[in-house]
Amino acid sequence: MTQDEMKKAAGWAALQYVKKDTIVGVGTGSTVNHFIDALATMKDDIEGAVSSSEASTKKLIELGIEVFDLNSVDMIDVYVDGADEINDRMDMIKGGGAALTREKIVAAVAKQFICIVDNTKQVSILGEFPLPVEVIPMARSYVARELVKLGGDPVYRQGVVTDNGNVILDVYNMQILDPKVMETKINAIVGVVTNGLFANRGADVLLVGTPEGVKTVTL
Ligand code: A5P
Repeated sequence: MTQDEMKKAAGWAALQYVKKDTIVGVGTGSTVNHFIDALATMKDDIEGAVSSSEASTKKLIELGIEVFDLNSVDMIDVYVDGADEINDRMDMIKGGGAALTREKIVAAVAKQFICIVDNTKQVSILGEFPLPVEVIPMARSYVARELVKLGGDPVYRQGVVTDNGNVILDVYNMQILDPKVMETKINAIVGVVTNGLFANRGADVLLVGTPEGVKTVTL
């Protein structure tokens, strides 16, 4: 089974968490693209979606799913998104696709976070995947120096501008033993918009695509 087949299986499995007549929170990435394909099969049964990126919005609209502005929505029942790494406490690193800030906002509004991954994303300690940090452009060098003080090696993601007009620093060589504390510390650096640790609001349900089928994990 290929990695993409495992992503697809996880993406389609998330459909069971979508309730009729609700607005669905939709993340970003190759795994979520499979979920959007699945969601299109029940587009007449849902009200629509709130999207976490321009890329997901485009795909949702192309498939005939209405996309709502988050400010016009009171409540999101489920948010479905992928991850770059997830540990057994359901803490995640996200932002490989640079959509971390909008993802974190939509996740904050949702009642339930359904994380969909293939089995290569499961880790015991977060940090082998470089941690993305979205930064206001003029603060880039200052934030990079502060991230070095926290033990990381930040690298400017060349040529990438986020949907919010900011830049990304990818922080290498961080062994993140306490993701909640690290998330809070990095967010406290002036000039940081968001960091890719999703620990203070982690996943509620994890669907892992494996060669033996989709495994469901809850805490
Ligand atoms: C997007 O910014 C990320 O948070 C994605 O959710 C993450 O990178 C997973 O992407 P894939 O599903 O493409 O592996």
